[in-house]
Amino acid sequence: MDGAGAEPHIANMFELKQTDFTDKAAGYAELEKQLGALLHGERDFIANCANAAALLWHSLPGLNWAGIYRLVDGELVLGPFQGKPACVRIKPGRGVCGTAAATRRTVLVPDVQAFPGHIACDAASRSEIVVPLVKDGVLLGVLDLDSPELNRFDAADQAGLERLATTLVAASV
Ligand code: SME
Repeated sequence: MDGAGAEPHIANMFELKQTDFTDKAAGYAELEKQLGALLHGERDFIANCANAAALLWHSLPGLNWAGIYRLVDGELVLGPFQGKPACVRIKPGRGVCGTAAATRRTVLVPDVQAFPGHIACDAASRSEIVVPLVKDGVLLGVLDLDSPELNRFDAADQAGLERLATTLVAASV
């Protein structure tokens, strides 16, 4: 074959567009477009979580962990992620992830040392945000981002990540 475009394995490559997050609203809007394209045509939740974690990890500045915990038999179980190895199981109500799961509300933690019960998987983490993944009223898990910077996440991150979480669950079974 002549042109690279005729090679199916090349045609299927996802081109990651680097986004400038100096304007967070614009950055997340771009990321939402990329996530929609990345997940298009695939309904498997674990595969989609894996690609969402990779996209966030490579796009958002100042992270040391990005991933998903899935709700399995009433417990949060480590799912696809990028970063250092992490705690495998978290009970609802425990830590930041368990609090987001139990309340089904985003938990934004500017300083993890000031959050009672924070579970330290990586000693480098200083701030964290956890967004519940809810589809048709059913909790599927949580999206968790950690940063080595204090106060890394704000309301603009929360709004952007909640929209990405909606895109993730809408695309998946
Ligand atoms: N810090 C989380 C635990 C998961 S890790 O950050 C990857 C918590 O307190 O639930």
